[in-house]
Amino acid sequence: MSQTQHPADEIAVPSADELAEMSTEEAMILGAEADGVHIVHRRERFPIAGTRAERRAERIIALTFLIGFLAAVGFIVVFCGAVPFEWHLPSQGSQDFRYFTPLLGILLAISLAAIGIGVVLWAKWLLPEEEAVQDRHDEPSPVTEQIMTSATLISGFNDLGVGRRSILKSTIGLAVGALTAVPLVALVGAMIKKPNKGPGQSLFHTLYTAGTPLVYADGRRISTDDLLPGGIETVFPGVPGGVKAGDSPTLLIRLRPGQTVRARKGQAGFGFGDYVAFSKICTHAGCPASLYEQQTGRLLCPCHQSQFNVLEDAKPIFGPATRSLPKLPIGVEEVDGKQYFVAKGDFPEAIGPAFWERP
Ligand code: FES
Repeated sequence: MSQTQHPADEIAVPSADELAEMSTEEAMILGAEADGVHIVHRRERFPIAGTRAERRAERIIALTFLIGFLAAVGFIVVFCGAVPFEWHLPSQGSQDFRYFTPLLGILLAISLAAIGIGVVLWAKWLLPEEEAVQDRHDEPSPVTEQIMTSATLISGFNDLGVGRRSILKSTIGLAVGALTAVPLVALVGAMIKKPNKGPGQSLFHTLYTAGTPLVYADGRRISTDDLLPGGIETVFPGVPGGVKAGDSPTLLIRLRPGQTVRARKGQAGFGFGDYVAFSKICTHAGCPASLYEQQTGRLLCPCHQSQFNVLEDAKPIFGPATRSLPKLPIGVEEVDGKQYFVAKGDFPEAIGPAFWERP
């Protein structure tokens, strides 16, 4: 088996004492040569320290770190809910637009990008220019070479000029420190923060109130004559923004002859005749549960195959969902001799996936 000659064998390797006498840069260059790395060209970008050009470069880099710091702090502030992040747009009816998640994403992206740009600029503008050619070997390194390698690392660190570039040291410390706090805040804060603290306790309320008409997606009202027995229809609260609100979709189901619903305690009067209405939002992870098998009264969520038994008040009977679909109390109002559906109130419980702050 042929053996590659170790590059360290080709040069006169000084003793550890001799190495200790050398400057860090000399030891680093010797170490590079011993490791088969030939430094062809090496030059300080700013041979005279403290020139205006160097200071300007430092200030620009410091600015990027400062932006990274501010964006990370902004993330923490927004996450903790210290600034309003909901706007009510009159043209969109009663819908609130929430910028919480986009704001978090944008701020985190700015922080990471600014710190990344700052590090790249530091390397490009302030580190010495260097061109090196390296041979590769496959043997373990001797102790002397390990010393020289550590000298290489120390020399690289010295090249960063962290000691004398106090403004960069401070700003990168600030930026990286704040960025490090971001996952901590997100992890710990998510366990502390109550999800229902916002105005109006929005997680527990939809746009349905007593008397709200039930409408199709195109806004038309739905009447008691519209569905055949066993039929199902997705309906929405007939108020401005009702069709677009994420917690609105509701399944209006007409039972087949002979089918009855075993109602939950306190919800016996929620249906109307052979009609019942349930939230369409799956209580597992929020998909629309809409595949209805009218003979058995089973409702299937296509995402993870949870099944709800409509005849047992949409109780989960298979799959990962653990909570029944919330039931909407419905009634009718008569208009021109026709009976149109209205809500008799809001859902009595929160819509969608379970969370830990349910009353
Ligand atoms: S979202 Fe419905 S089963 Fe997972």
